[in-house]
Amino acid sequence: MSKAFYVTTPLYYVNAAPHIGHSYTEVAADCLSRYMKLKGKEVYFMTGTDEHGQKIAQAANEGGLQPKDFADKVVKRFTDLWKELSVEYDYFIRTTDEDHVKAVQEALMLLEEKGDLYLDEYKGWYCVPCETFWPKMQLEGNSCPECKRPLEEISEKNYFFKMSKYQDWLKNYIEKHPDFIRPSYRKNEVTSFLENPLSDLCITRPKSRINWGIEAPFSKEHVVYVWFDALLNYISGCGWLSDKKKFKKFWPCDYHLIGKDILRPHAVYWPIMLHALGLEPPKTIFAHGWWTLGGEKISKSKGKVIDPFEMIAEYGADVYRYFLLSEVKFGQDGVYSKEAIVIRLNSDLANDIGNLLNRTLTMIEKYTQAKIPAVKKTTSLDDALKKKAEGLAKKIDSAMANLDFQSALVSILEVVNSANKYIEETAPWKLWKNKELDRISTMLYYLAEVLRLASIGLWPIIPDAAGKMWKQIGQSTEISKQGFSELKWGLTKPGTKISKGTPLFPRR
Ligand code: ME8
Ligand code: MG
Repeated sequence: MSKAFYVTTPLYYVNAAPHIGHSYTEVAADCLSRYMKLKGKEVYFMTGTDEHGQKIAQAANEGGLQPKDFADKVVKRFTDLWKELSVEYDYFIRTTDEDHVKAVQEALMLLEEKGDLYLDEYKGWYCVPCETFWPKMQLEGNSCPECKRPLEEISEKNYFFKMSKYQDWLKNYIEKHPDFIRPSYRKNEVTSFLENPLSDLCITRPKSRINWGIEAPFSKEHVVYVWFDALLNYISGCGWLSDKKKFKKFWPCDYHLIGKDILRPHAVYWPIMLHALGLEPPKTIFAHGWWTLGGEKISKSKGKVIDPFEMIAEYGADVYRYFLLSEVKFGQDGVYSKEAIVIRLNSDLANDIGNLLNRTLTMIEKYTQAKIPAVKKTTSLDDALKKKAEGLAKKIDSAMANLDFQSALVSILEVVNSANKYIEETAPWKLWKNKELDRISTMLYYLAEVLRLASIGLWPIIPDAAGKMWKQIGQSTEISKQGFSELKWGLTKPGTKISKGTPLFPRR
């Protein structure tokens, strides 16, 4: 198996500051890439911003700024947020980057030479917030089928990409590659969309209407359609033209993580663009669900937002990350509420994980001079806990193979809760009273070992808190340098000195 692993997020529009939805995809990609690092992969995690097009030009204009200056400001909001959320991407790409611009122009020249482009009159309806054209047949009334807002009618000369020519190839490709579009219910949507004839894609805009974009290499009168521009980031940002070795290593991409709102450009336009360019499609496009509020998608173009900076200030980055990844199964929609965050915090984080850590460290301080003791006598209770903990790695692996962050967490919590129950069952305070020090030794070692395994398992999800747990149970190495193989039972050295700190997750 190849060691290289490439994961991307969408390039978010810079028309407004990031909201919960953007942080969701970002945190998921970070979690996946941290997990892959634990698995020993050489990870390339790319994220960034989509900066051209009418929507951004309009927002900049309203803010009284040039589009690029406006974008610079909003980009900082994104990068600040990723920092606060401990998102460790390897590369941040902006569609205004010179390398990217060149790659887009090169791609267009290649398609032009191939005969895949033509000039034609375009008549249709355009949705500015979605930056999408809608052919007449898909319209009910005069509103956007996606977001329901009014459409603008447009008639102009533009370049078209012969997408229809590749429809059969795509249908066949999707059929032969069951993991190409996931979850499977999203694949079914694409498959049924492809039952109807595909229109060619209008890939330019006349500068007379929109001039904020990449100039088409064959026409000074046109700029490139933002979606055509933005999708190419996935190859321009991994060395397609600039670094052959890197491109060979990381392409095809392992996962494009996206929201279900942008499935069509990713699962239809993008593989066809790549195929026309003679490149392989990505291995998997995974479309997750939406965070909703009052039954509606949380969206900046609809002005319905949850500010992640506020959530982080209120609960901390780890709690926020934990909430995002545990609350819903990746793929499905989720309902956002503060109450739900507090429930997660109090039950899973404070009661289950935090409590196990505190009780264990308190006992190690009290009974064994703040040192993790050696295993002495064991009983069937100990064996049962160990068995459970030893099964964790496998469970995390199978959950992560489906990007099921929620199930990965459930299996970690199961082990944590078995350990909490084990404390009740072994009743260490009685053992202490009866001077059963051998039993106490075994027990505390077992608990410390469960905590060590739990911190590794939790690291991709709540990296900062997991790092603190790691230090508190006396581990002197960097948790980020651990491998998944460290999920093996029995690696804590007896005699390790613990250093109890303040509780990681104070209750609300
Ligand atoms: O579509 N719930 O950018 P965008 C979950 N620039 N995820 C959400 C969400 C919500 N309510 N709202 C947004 C674009 N997202 C294009 C992409 S890619 C080459 C170009 C997340 O700023 C989700 O990942 O509208 C969604 O697909 C993305 O943000 C859309 O971000
Ligand atoms: Mg959007």
